[in-house]
Amino acid sequence: MDHPDTAPAVTERDQEEAVRRELADYYRAGEPPWDTGVTPPELVALVEGHDAPLPGRALELGCGTGTNAVYLARHGWEVVAVDLIDSAIEQAREKAAAAGATVRLLCGDATRLDELDVPGLYDLFFDLSCYCGIPPHRRDAYAAGLTRRAAPGARLLMFGYGPEAFDDPISGVTADELRTRFAGWELLETAPGTNPVPTFWFVLRRNAQEARTDR
Ligand SMILES: C[S@@+](CC[C@H](N)C(=O)[O-])C[C@H]1O[C@@H](n2cnc3c(N)ncnc32)[C@H](O)[C@@H]1O
Repeated sequence: MDHPDTAPAVTERDQEEAVRRELADYYRAGEPPWDTGVTPPELVALVEGHDAPLPGRALELGCGTGTNAVYLARHGWEVVAVDLIDSAIEQAREKAAAAGATVRLLCGDATRLDELDVPGLYDLFFDLSCYCGIPPHRRDAYAAGLTRRAAPGARLLMFGYGPEAFDDPISGVTADELRTRFAGWELLETAPGTNPVPTFWFVLRRNAQEARTDR
């Protein structure tokens, strides 16, 4: 009997499920490597720096166990934070309660915000290494979800690994990609991270005029 010599096609859903399983395994195994419990200086500079915006509404994408969502709430921001993995959200709830911080924590997909109760508008979006692991076919939906929820002039502070940091063909982010994918936003800054592999801090700003005319 003949056997097909091609492997079965990996569907987009398979790809999403593989990413979700890998993330869930990290949380199940204990403290994942990224969970430092320390708010990065780049977020501190934005929130507490000399030209810091007044606290407004913030949405964190891929909040993990909630270190930075709690930090934002403690600095006067009204925070909604989303993560795909329920055990991360459970830990984030415990962290927020222990800190006496009010954060709306939601388990869900940052690329499917319409399925969650996160109507916006938001003044600040924060993404620490979430977007760069999202399969490419979901990234337009991620950008559209943020764009629809962005107040005029809203900022997106994103940390991401460059594609060279991964040995798979789907992960990583570049400045060129963000410029193309986030139509109606301006990439204000790209600064290298301090990791041994290529990493970047990006700051994007939603074009105020376009945000107003979209509504
Ligand atoms: C590298 S971890 C960083 C977590 C957290 N920001 C921190 O600094 O500890 C990336 C996080 O994004 C979450 N994530 C990945 N894809 C996601 C998606 N599509 N929607 C929501 N969260 C997602 C993961 O579950 C994980 O908690």
